[in-house]
Formats: sequence, structure tokens, C-alpha cells
Amino acid sequence: MLGAKKNSKNTAKSSKALPPGKYRMGGAHFKDDDAFIRTAVRDVKRLEKYANLNADSSLLDWGCGAGRLAVGVREHFGRVRDYHGVDVQAELIDWANANLAAPGFRFTFVDVSNERYNPDGSPERTLSAEPGSVDVFYAYSVFSHMNDDDTPAYLTLLGEALSPDGRAFVTCFVEEGVADWEENPEGYGPFDWKGRLHCTRFSRRHFEDHVASAGLAVDRFVYGRETDGQSLYVLRRR
Ligand SMILES: C[S@@+](CC[C@H](N)C(=O)[O-])C[C@H]1O[C@@H](n2cnc3c(N)ncnc32)[C@H](O)[C@@H]1O
Repeated sequence: MLGAKKNSKNTAKSSKALPPGKYRMGGAHFKDDDAFIRTAVRDVKRLEKYANLNADSSLLDWGCGAGRLAVGVREHFGRVRDYHGVDVQAELIDWANANLAAPGFRFTFVDVSNERYNPDGSPERTLSAEPGSVDVFYAYSVFSHMNDDDTPAYLTLLGEALSPDGRAFVTCFVEEGVADWEENPEGYGPFDWKGRLHCTRFSRRHFEDHVASAGLAVDRFVYGRETDGQSLYVLRRR
């Protein structure tokens, strides 16, 4: 397969399109345009470094929102072989399809249930990815809004979707010595958490048990440096 070249001219529709503020998920700091682009490019560079992202990769941005990472791919690589953004919020995917979809960039709405973002969705879980097809999986601030049944089920789907040398880059709230799973833990983090699955926190042991049960191994763990104090995991197939 002929790979897309870094900074090629074959970029997404408008080189300037950014989602409107109301569609930017994942933290107040993303409302600022510069921060939005900077964090997206930072993450693409980290995917390049820690998950072998390159112009020939297939990249699944699970819980993509309105496509923050796509903006980073557009800025840093121009495009990759296949950027696929998937989300349960139809309005955000509609915006992304209208403004960011282009050769190498596609977005899919999945009408599956998440009590916070799509409570009336179907209980049939899907990542919308063929088994073994994903070189790089990115889920930024998605497991931080997930119940303790969906989490192991999606980690299993992730293990199936990854290509043999694939890597997953995921963030979530984990701590030592806390309950296995807790919703909106009081006095934890920068907010007074409100509403279903605003913040879901795992004990590190419990989350890593889910990871192991899904046939995955931890390649890299960095505690507490992501948005609102989330931790970073880079995962691979065992
Ligand atoms: C906090 S936002 C993060 C958005 C994006 N990853 C970013 O960093 O800008 C969490 C996103 O996950 C999506 N989401 C939650 N459950 C999902 C699921 N089961 N499948 C796909 N997307 C999901 C939500 O709709 C929301 O857009």
C-alpha cells in the first residue's frame, strides 16, 4: 500500500476547520483554539513515538468527539492511510463528516449505549473495526466515562481489533488502594463531578486485571499527567 507522505497536500477538507466550542469534549482547556490544536499535535507526536504511528497506519480514534485528534493528524502528517473516528454522539460525527472527512479521514456514528453520552443507545457494543485491522488505537478520556461492565467488554474488543504489532493509547483515572470502580468520587480531581459517568475511577489493580483478561499487556504507564489527572496506558497484545 502506498503510504501518505508527511505533510502531503492531500489533507482534510479545510486546513483551518475546527469544531465549534460546544462540540469540544474532554476538558475546559480544549475550548481554546491554540490549546485544542496543540494538544492534538502533542498526542499525534506521542502516538508516533510510543505507538509507532506513521503515514501508513490505520488509526482508530475511539470516542473521537468532533475529531480533535484528526486535527492533529492533519497538522502533523497531512494524513495517514486510514484515520477512523468513532463516537456515540451523532451531532459531533455529523459535524466531523461535514468538515473534516477527506481522503484518509472518515467518521462513524455508532448508536451504542453510554449512560452519559448516549443513554438510549443499543446495548450491542461495537468499535466499528474489523478484527486485527487497527495499528494504532487511541481512546483519550473515554474509559474515564465508562461503567465497569462496558470497560472489560471494550478492552476485549480492543484486543481483537489490534493488529499483531498494534498499540493502544488510552487514558483513564486509576489510583492505588481505592474501590475497584467508583462513579464521581467525592473530593477527587478538579471538579465537583455531576451526572452519570462524569468521572469513573478504577483501582489500578482492577483496571490492569481487565487489561490482562482482554489478552493485553501494559507497555507503558504514566501516572496522573493527562487531562484532569488521568493516567496514560500504552497497551499491546500479549
Ligand atoms: C471526554 S470525551 C473525549 C473526546 C476525545 N477523545 C478528545 O480527547 O477530544 C469522551 C467521548 O467518548 C465518547 N464515547 C463514550 N462512550 C463511547 C462508546 N461506547 N463508543 C464510542 N464513543 C464513546 C463520547 O461520546 C465522547 O465524545
